[in-house]
Amino acid sequence: MSFTNYKEIRPWAKAIQAAVQTRKMPPWHADPHYGKFANDSRLKESEVAAIISWARNGAPEGDPKDLPALPKFAEGWQIGKPDAIFAIPEFTLGSNGQDEQQNFFVETNFKEDVWVEAVEIRPGNRKVVHHAHVWIESPRVAKSETPETPLPNKKRVSFTMREGTRVFAKPDAPVIDDGCNHPDGGMWPGAEPRELGSILGSFVPGKLPEEWPTGIARRIPAGSKIKFTIHYSKSTGKEEKDITSVGLRFAKKPPAQELRRIDLHNSAFRIPANADNHTVTACYTFTEDSDVLSYLAHMHYRGKSMRFEATYPDGKTETLLNIPQYDFEWQTKYLNSAPVRIPKGTRIKLTATFDNSPNNRYNPDPSKVIRWGDNTVDEMMDGWFEFVTPKR
Ligand code: HEM
Repeated sequence: MSFTNYKEIRPWAKAIQAAVQTRKMPPWHADPHYGKFANDSRLKESEVAAIISWARNGAPEGDPKDLPALPKFAEGWQIGKPDAIFAIPEFTLGSNGQDEQQNFFVETNFKEDVWVEAVEIRPGNRKVVHHAHVWIESPRVAKSETPETPLPNKKRVSFTMREGTRVFAKPDAPVIDDGCNHPDGGMWPGAEPRELGSILGSFVPGKLPEEWPTGIARRIPAGSKIKFTIHYSKSTGKEEKDITSVGLRFAKKPPAQELRRIDLHNSAFRIPANADNHTVTACYTFTEDSDVLSYLAHMHYRGKSMRFEATYPDGKTETLLNIPQYDFEWQTKYLNSAPVRIPKGTRIKLTATFDNSPNNRYNPDPSKVIRWGDNTVDEMMDGWFEFVTPKR
């Protein structure tokens, strides 16, 4: 529905009242006790009260003179005209009705490093593109396609397997739910920063395009490829075509600071069947003084909560972000109102809980033991940080 004039809004008055009263709308999932976020969309108590009283009193139109101007909605690219657009070759999906995960590689032909200040992914066919990530495949970093799990004896084992387009944890892969309790004091799976080979932008439910603050930009090294990982949900029952693309806006001059990013995750967990509150953790220690700009929590249907916690070198612990009721449909990027200084040596702990019980109405199958996998019916446990390192 559209809420741009009285005629459109009036029939929704009761639904609007219920949505704001229950705080379902505007959508916001962070615990208000922790952090201050620039995109905090919560209404003030007084605003909620005004809407409730308006709906209860017959939802009158009021004086049209008092109307604020309509917001300006961007046509086409929301980030403005991109300086470069990369698209996948036209892809045809069959009609067998199953989800599919596809990778596409596109050459940038960048002869020198390029600084990017905004990134927008546009799905070609919204009926079937469920979500899409765009990665920088830098020639400087050889990234293995599947995660590997370092064991306490530092032996690395191959952790995942592939069936068709689905990549998932081998059923007999080592189980590490507490990713912070490494016997060597080292880092458990996936806790290493994956920077150059990392995600440049995502199209996921509830998330806006990437636009970094002035003076901060992302580097794409010369010779990089752009990798698209696209999750197609094939619900239409007929053949569908897609050309998804990514638009990049370049910084006009080299930025004062390079946008960096850590994808902290645990991919070695095992969630028992019917478990209603299964905890999984992952840890990472910052190696430089850093200013953290944003966080994003990513799990699938069984994701229940996620907490981002910092233990500073002096031993003090602080919660940076808490999402007590995670919702797969709203993968919001939480933008800190002001950069949060994380001194070198600070340990970040990510604690996720999963509800694999029948009480979780989104749960596709509580009787299944769940491990890491890239299909939505499997699970993931990721916490993404964007940061800059002021001394660099
Ligand atoms: C004060 C501000 C807002 C009001 C009054 C409002 C109101 C509503 C209402 C009445 C519904 C239907 C709920 C239902 O079917 O039970 C709804 C659904 C929805 N709204 Fe909002 N909304 C607000 C802000 C937003 C914002 C900021 C966004 C996007 C960022 C958004 C995105 C959506 C979406 C995607 C749905 C459908 C999702 C679902 O059914 O769960 N809304 N909203």
